[in-house]
Order: sequence, then structure tokens, then C-alpha cells
Amino acid sequence: MKRPLYKNPAAPVEARVRDLLARMTLEEKAEQLCQDTIGKDPNPDNHGTDSEFNPRVGSIYQYCGDTRTRNAFQRIAVERTRLGIPILWALDVIHGWRTMFPVSLAQAASFLPSLTERAQRVAARECWQDGGIDWLLGPMVEVGHDPRWGRNVEGYGEDPYTAGRFAAAAVRGIQRDGRCAACVKHFVGYSACEGGRDYSYTEISARAMREWYLPPFAAAAKAGALTVMSSFNEYDGVPVSASRALLTDELRGRMGFRGLVVSDSGALHRMGNMGYAHDPVDQTARAIHAGNEMSMGDGLFRNIPAAVAAGKLSMEDVDEAVSRVLRVKFRLGLFENPYAPEKPTRKTCQLPDAIDLAHQFARETMVLLKNDPPRGNNSSLVARHSSLVTRHSSLGAAHRAAPVLPLDPRKIRKIALVGPAGDEVHPHLGNWRAAATDVSRGVNGETFLDAARRFFPKAEIRVARGCTFWDYTPPTEKDAALRAEAVAAARDADVVLLCFGEVPWMCGEKKSRRDISLPPAQPPLIEAIAALGRPLVGLCCSGRALAFPDLAAKMDALLWCWQSGCRAPTAAMEILVGKVNPSGKLPISFPRSVGQIPVFYNHHGKITPECPDYQDLPEENGPWFPFGFGLSYTTFKYGKVKVASKRTARSARALEATVEVTNAGSRAGKETVLWYLSDPEASYTQPVRRVIAFEKISLKPGEAKTVRLRIDPMRDLAYDLPDGRRVLEPGEFVLSASLRSEARFAL
Ligand code: BGC
Repeated sequence: MKRPLYKNPAAPVEARVRDLLARMTLEEKAEQLCQDTIGKDPNPDNHGTDSEFNPRVGSIYQYCGDTRTRNAFQRIAVERTRLGIPILWALDVIHGWRTMFPVSLAQAASFLPSLTERAQRVAARECWQDGGIDWLLGPMVEVGHDPRWGRNVEGYGEDPYTAGRFAAAAVRGIQRDGRCAACVKHFVGYSACEGGRDYSYTEISARAMREWYLPPFAAAAKAGALTVMSSFNEYDGVPVSASRALLTDELRGRMGFRGLVVSDSGALHRMGNMGYAHDPVDQTARAIHAGNEMSMGDGLFRNIPAAVAAGKLSMEDVDEAVSRVLRVKFRLGLFENPYAPEKPTRKTCQLPDAIDLAHQFARETMVLLKNDPPRGNNSSLVARHSSLVTRHSSLGAAHRAAPVLPLDPRKIRKIALVGPAGDEVHPHLGNWRAAATDVSRGVNGETFLDAARRFFPKAEIRVARGCTFWDYTPPTEKDAALRAEAVAAARDADVVLLCFGEVPWMCGEKKSRRDISLPPAQPPLIEAIAALGRPLVGLCCSGRALAFPDLAAKMDALLWCWQSGCRAPTAAMEILVGKVNPSGKLPISFPRSVGQIPVFYNHHGKITPECPDYQDLPEENGPWFPFGFGLSYTTFKYGKVKVASKRTARSARALEATVEVTNAGSRAGKETVLWYLSDPEASYTQPVRRVIAFEKISLKPGEAKTVRLRIDPMRDLAYDLPDGRRVLEPGEFVLSASLRSEARFAL
């Protein structure tokens, strides 16, 4: 029998799509547009059973069995169905498969998208070779303004430009080897859920949509993302998954996206909960017409034949949707190579390069938020530090002493490693880790304690949990007993390493919090330890911004460790001893308290900036720590920002900005230059400032580098009107380098 055209790898993709489409029945088409599960949760035991498996389905998600079982299911689809269409295997692989990388929010703190690109490439390789996953349900690229929302951990922070850079990098990394598709999510505005309540109503103006929420998706589309996930929320009275204005006009029209759109899990059949379409046939027609091609988890698109019969859906719409699904399958080479390699995990995962990358990444993510001289007066540390008084300081005595970090392991005899995160693996690994659940040993099994033992080999390390960790219950008698142990351990320590924060399950989907202070068992511990007056270094693990300024005031140093992956503990110790100079900067603003939310840097101006925002916080209008904040062990000096015109072939009006940055300290260090643009007078108000570029540079002591920025006026100075038109208004602009130096210029 002659081979059908669609099975000929040499034929053009479009011809193959048309050929296959022409052979499909309407029912087969409907199946291709559904994404089912087999088995339940994404865990290693989730192999599913034959009876749950429908081999004509377009895709399976949340499957996390081994490759052999996946291939066995695939074989049924390919060899025992009429047309033999292979299935796409989808899973949330967000920050690693078996090698766990920093969570996305931490990745953004590195300001190195190139590392994200490399890490996502490793993640895609591992999950394809080790699990047969060829569709990664990420990156999540939504900007987050509200740390109560648990899913900020999955995204790249509050800045649309930064999120866009990381989104594009993630897409490139996932798709680099050509075997896996990225799924950029959730399009669009889900992160604006009211009060941070997951899945809740979103109130987004057309301006906010264009200025904050859409740009990262445009960047990901430009990077060639093969798929996008539509979001759970509504926009201006219409569920996004039924919005043709967003899914077709915006995403495909303006952004030029060519791939397939999958709905979010169960979103389509739940539209009725928003007071929209209730009838499944009606929901189906609206969702496809809007621009979804696959329904996730609800089998809704099995209503397609009924929708066509009722005249609610045209065959053209159905064929268009099926074409987009088939195109992705052809593009990934699935018809030629439907089976994943069945190599042992040790040959495909956690290879030395991957672990090195995780290590390098963790070093770049951590943010030093505080580093003061120790407050106590009788420790060897204090003695050591007072001998290192900085001569040029004109400040008071307390300020002249050297800061507590970095520590000198040769001088430290007793360390107290206290707090619930000290001897725990989980706080470093984040909560999307379908394949990396066995963390009791192996690559993902490192704790702060393990690393501390290596970095302070001569010191006596006393360990005490200090309090419970896993929930929000108020402190109990058990906590009091644990606290007493910790106080005893810390009483005469040369330095206390206080390891605390959130367990990973406190962040993520359905993990919103009404409060973002520390879980209640931890503050009494911190108070009790701080009262001892020993040099106190806080190591906080978290997947969101937290607010505890009063407690932090009692610490001498605070290192924000996020959930920075399998080598986070080593990286943290390298920073504590000064082997690595911290260089992470916050990709989100940290509020002082929950009542200050939302607080983010690129807000719009208020009519009376001099007026306190709150009468119970009269001194401070800003956040606890602003976007872009992060200390180093060295100091960087910024020269004058200069802006000059620079004609290019593309633009007669192009400009070039430069700034010289000098390492004025005695240690090598890295500095992220954040270029902010302000447009103080516009016909359509603009944010007080916005990032238009960033660059992370390394500088040896005394070294100076000139950092250059090419300004393309249409890209960098123009803005979008609500209807999507981009306008470039002549006038005066202000360009700032990291808020340290600025220049005004006119266009
Ligand atoms: C989440 C998505 C995820 C999907 C599949 C949904 O509930 O919102 O981000 O990709 O589940 O696991």
C-alpha cells in the first residue's frame, strides 16, 4: 500500500497537515483537540492504566511515569489507531526535571537570562530523555504585583521587560534541541487576581494590559514559542478563554503568534462559574472561535460534533484548530520519532554539566539584603571586625566597624545553625518537581547543614530546628521546647546562622496567603535568638516576597536564598565566607506589610508625592526593599550617564547612552546595570520609570567599564495606546543607570 503523504518526512509540513486533515473524521478531529490525563497526580507512581487511556487523544498531561510505559501507550496510538497520530506528552516542568534549578523568581534575581536559557535546555533534555515529556507547560511569564498570590514563584517578577527577557530565554532553551515545545502561560492577566486570591476576578484596564501584562508574552511569541496557554481569569466582562480579542486579535494578530493555544486545566467547562456560557456545546463553540485549539482536562471539545451540527461552529474553524495541533506534532518530528529514548536515568539526568549549571545559577540568584556590623560586643567576630575599621568612614563608631559578612572560617570556632530550614532539603527545591521527589539523598539532597560542615570544617556546629515548619498554626508547647534547644545552642556561638522562611508548599498554585509575614512559629524563635546578642546571619528561603522588617532589624545580615535549587546550600555558604561575592538583585519589590500591597516600582505618579501614603507609616512611602535592590561585598561607583545621537541603518533617530561603572572596593564583584526610562510629560500618562534594558558586568577591584545602551526610539521611548497603536512623542526623557546616575535628553 502506498505511504500516505502525511507520513512522508520529506514532504512540506503544510502539505502533510492538509493531507492528514483530509483523512480525518469529525470525531477524530475532536479527539485531537482534547488533552486528557491518565492516572492522577504528577508523581513517579502515576503510570495510569490501559483502561483510562484513549489512544486517539491529542495530548496527555500530568503524566509522570517512566519512559517505557509512556512509549507503550504511545505505541498504541501510533500502531493501533486508524491514522496513527502520535500523542503530545505535557507536564509542568518549570525549573528542572531531575536536576533542580532555582525557581523562576530566583532565576530573575540573577539578571542573567542566558542562564535560564541553558537551564531550560537541560530541563527539556532531561524530561524528554528520562520521561518522554515533549511539551513543557512553561514558562510562566506573568508579571506579579501581589506577593500574596502564590504563583509569583513561577514567574520572573514584577517588571514586564525583565519578564520578557527571561520568557524569551526560557522558550529558546526549551525548544533549542527541537524535541520539545514550550507553553507560555497564562495568557493573560491571571496574576492580577483580586487580593492575590488564586483564580479570582481580575480588574485590568486596557492601559495596564498593554503596559504590564502583555509585553512578556509578546517577547515569548517573538522568540518562537510553539504553544501558549490561555488563562483562568476574565478580562473586561469576558473569560479570557472565550476572548477572541485577546487570543486571536492580540496574540495572533499583533504579536504574530503562529502556534497552538491550549486552555488551562478545566477552565473551559468552568466558564459558567464566571456567569458566562454554561452549556458545554456553547462553551465549545465560543472557546474555539476565540482561538483555543485544545481543551485541557475537561474533554470539552468532544462536543465539537454537536457544536458543528447545531451550526454554532464551522468546519473551517475546526480544521484551523486541528491544523495548529498537527503542525506542532510535525514540527517536533513526532511522526518520525514518536518514542522517547529508554536509557537509564543516570545516563540522561543530573550529568556533571547540569549540576555545575545549577550551582552557578544559585550563586547568581541570592540577594544580600542586609550586612551590618555585628551588634554584640564580646565575640571573636566582633573583635576581628573592629580591627578592620574602614578608615575613610566619617560615620559613627557603630558604622565604622566592618559588616558581619563575609565570615572568616579560620576565626570561627562555634557555629549555631538554628531554624527550621537548616537541616531540610525541601526549602531549596521549589514545588514543581514532578520527577525530583526522592530527595532524601543524591544530587537534590543537600541542606544548609551539609554545606556548612564543608565550609567550616574546623568549627563545632550545633544544630537546632528551633520551631516547627510545615504549617500556619500558632506556636505550641512543642515549639517552646524546640526554641529552648535553639537558644541553648546559640548562647555562646561565634555566629548564629538562622535558617528560616517558607516551605515550598506555601508557594505555588492554590497557595495564596492573606498575610506575608513569617509563619507564626518562627517570629518567637527569631526574637529569642536575637536577644542573645550573638552575631546573627539570617538565611531566608522563600518563593515570594515576605514582610518582616521588625524581625530583620534584629539580624546583622540577611541573605535571601529563595528556593535556589539543588546547589543552593553550597552557594549560600560560598557567599557567607566570601568565596562568592553576592550579586543577585530583587526582581520584585518587598512591601513593609501586607497593607502596602500592591507596591511595585513602575507605578504611575501620584498627584502629591510628598504626602505620606499612610498616616501610620508617615516616614516611608516606598517598599521595604525596592525592585533592583541587592548588596555586594564591594562598592560600585557610577559615572555620568551620557546620551548621544547615533544614526544607524534602521533608525536615523537612534541614540547611544553610556555610563562608566567602577569597582571601588577591594573585591571582585558583579553589578547589574538597570537602565530606567522616564517620560515625565506624555499625552497618555506613563509610569514613573520603567526598565528598558539591563546588563550584568563583572569588575575586578579598581576596574572600570563603560556600559553602552543603544536606544531605539520606537522600541524604547514609544508607548502603546489602549487600542494597541504605538506612539512616539517628541519631548524630554530621563535615562537613569540603576538610579545612581541620570541624564535628561530630548527627542
Ligand atoms: C495550572 C497550569 C498547569 C496546569 C497543568 C493548571 O491548574 O494553572 O499552570 O500547567 O494546571 O498542570
